[in-house]
Amino acid sequence: MEGVLTRLRGVEESDAPLLHAWDNDPEIRAALDVVFPVTISSTTEYIREITGSRDGVLFIVSDRETEAPIGFTTLYDIDWIARKAEFGIIIGDKRYWSRGYGTDAALATLSFAFEDLGLHRVYLSTYSYHPRAIRVCEKCGFVREGVMRKARYHHGAYHDVVLMGILYDEFAAHRGRPP
Ligand SMILES: CC(C)(COP(=O)(O)OP(=O)(O)OC[C@H]1O[C@@H](n2cnc3c(N)ncnc32)[C@H](O)[C@@H]1OP(=O)(O)O)[C@@H](O)C(=O)NCCC(=O)NCCS
Repeated sequence: MEGVLTRLRGVEESDAPLLHAWDNDPEIRAALDVVFPVTISSTTEYIREITGSRDGVLFIVSDRETEAPIGFTTLYDIDWIARKAEFGIIIGDKRYWSRGYGTDAALATLSFAFEDLGLHRVYLSTYSYHPRAIRVCEKCGFVREGVMRKARYHHGAYHDVVLMGILYDEFAAHRGRPP
């Protein structure tokens, strides 16, 4: 799968050290629903589980120009009856932030979700203190669907959890494709 700036490929067990480093970066962890440290063995186990399952997919995101791995995207908890999945993204190499790579990788992953897997809905939750993630979702065509008030505890305070989702028709319209 390719975007304009990024390329997506399947994750390998040998990618575990990269994922492990990104998942333990404090600035990145603030955006994630993790509290305990992530170990290299739990990361390896997670890669094994997701690559052996049909209920989720994990892509390594590379810079298309240099092939350098810069992050990952995932579709997980795929529900083949309701044809929906939850979306996750980390651009772990922070030198790439605010240069369009996150949006590009998200759009490539949504293309895969809707056009290859035939899903009908993709959704995620993020935090009210994370406008960058909300902006990326808006740029991809996600709609703000609701708020879970004060459902996130972080750095000694409660914060709202923002629920966002996109349906196939909205994605197609956003991309200028026939629905
Ligand atoms: C969130 C993340 C994927 C964004 O990646 P990115 O490569 O920086 O995204 P893009 O460059 O495509 O877009 C970032 C947008 O946020 C905007 N932005 C950045 N900081 C912002 C802020 N404080 N307030 C509002 N908008 C902000 C940028 O201006 C840009 O929007 P624009 O193109 O309209 O100017 C990346 O920062 C990341 O991986 N963060 C850690 C993990 C994470 O948050 N994952 C998502 C959890 S839901």
